[in-house]
Amino acid sequence: MGMIRMAVQDGADLDGFRNAVRTLVAHHALPDTVVWSTANDNDLFGAAMPDASGAPAVSLPRDVADLIKLAICHSDPERFALLYQLVWRVLHGERALLEVQSDPLAHRLQLMAKSVQRDIHKMHAFLRFRETKDPDGTERFVAWFEPEHHILDAAVPFFIERFRGMVWSILTPQGARHWDRETLVEGPPAHKSDAPDSDAFEAAWKSYYESIFNPARVNPAAMRQHMPKKYWRNLPEAAAIADLVREAPQRAREMIEREAAMPAKRDPKKAVAAMAEQEPKSLEALNALIAASEPLTPGADHAVLGEGPIGADIAFVGEQPGDQEDLEGKPFIGPAGQMLDKALEEVGIDRRRVYVTNAVKHFKFEPRGKRRIHKKPNPGEVKRYRWWLTKELEFVRPKLVVALGGTALLSLTGKPLSVMRSRGPLQLGEFPGYATVHPSYLLRIPDPAVKEEAYEAFRHDLQRIKKLAAT
Ligand code: URA
Repeated sequence: MGMIRMAVQDGADLDGFRNAVRTLVAHHALPDTVVWSTANDNDLFGAAMPDASGAPAVSLPRDVADLIKLAICHSDPERFALLYQLVWRVLHGERALLEVQSDPLAHRLQLMAKSVQRDIHKMHAFLRFRETKDPDGTERFVAWFEPEHHILDAAVPFFIERFRGMVWSILTPQGARHWDRETLVEGPPAHKSDAPDSDAFEAAWKSYYESIFNPARVNPAAMRQHMPKKYWRNLPEAAAIADLVREAPQRAREMIEREAAMPAKRDPKKAVAAMAEQEPKSLEALNALIAASEPLTPGADHAVLGEGPIGADIAFVGEQPGDQEDLEGKPFIGPAGQMLDKALEEVGIDRRRVYVTNAVKHFKFEPRGKRRIHKKPNPGEVKRYRWWLTKELEFVRPKLVVALGGTALLSLTGKPLSVMRSRGPLQLGEFPGYATVHPSYLLRIPDPAVKEEAYEAFRHDLQRIKKLAAT
């Protein structure tokens, strides 16, 4: 057979590659007889292959399939040829090829996959949204990012999960993705000048970054490694880094003093201020402080306190009370609470014997007619309640703390972690913990089959939680 030309899209064209592989394997095409051309190559040569319809699917070991998904996003134009070499060899007797560390092909592809993973991580960590208004007045958050590899579609689900309730656009030189709270729409490649430069959001982000910056952890070398200069120009907080590093020792001292004084500073009411000068000595004293604190939104006047026995094996931490919780003054009694109760009962966890609380103790909402629409607390608000949550858990002393969703995870770790990536056992501050999705996430899934699957995964988490707490 002469040379064969396979056309794929110049990007992370997994479908195109899969189809091509089916056809090539069905024709027993040796890797060095194939020329891979991307849609914008114009020096094509060789005979084009027919498309893959009818060719049987190619079954590959899991590690190979996973590696293909990552390495195909790499910017190296040779990626398709290298991956086909891998597929060919795996199908011809070398099923465990990826375990052979000394094999140059396996090694090279694994480095490529790592580089893609790092790029996705950087996009998650360093992309910054800036606030804009659409012509019709809609509040839209717009971000500009220049990925090194073709990672846009691999990175975007993280932003959907995190900023599901916002309207946003991510612009890159490879394409744009626009989210309108329900659907994701693709847009053409963008230019940096399409994104706004700075705004009030940037100032707020910078101050948030300063407030979560932990001076005890300063390591400029590590910081440079994780936050290469290339990204700094898009980062509002980069302006704060030099000062923060210089001031770190002083800030560490101040932080220690401030932590001790937190309730007094936070509490507006004189009656409890005297009490707050000393650290609360009991959960009741702490709850009195919380109950007297200002709500996030006027009208949400109950602080919804944690509920359950001190010494409970498990403490579940949610995001914030909802409408019904605010009215009744009890956590997790509305739709999300009912979903949680159902799953707890099915796996045999007695709700009366666990502790249930929230990262944020007041309902934040937007009035719409007669209805009060839940609004996600922002990181600054989560931080405001963090001290309380930590103290609360110190009094309850659970064996295991469960973060239900991203807000709880942010509050318990101080870091904006992805729930899906952190899912499972992990340390949450001083407590052994477990991260899983928030039950309201399950309620929002429209497709019944997907919802059922997600509910099953949630129940599986609860089973593991039950086991962990029993040991
Ligand atoms: N969602 C939460 O996170 N907490 C509640 O108490 C209710 C709904």
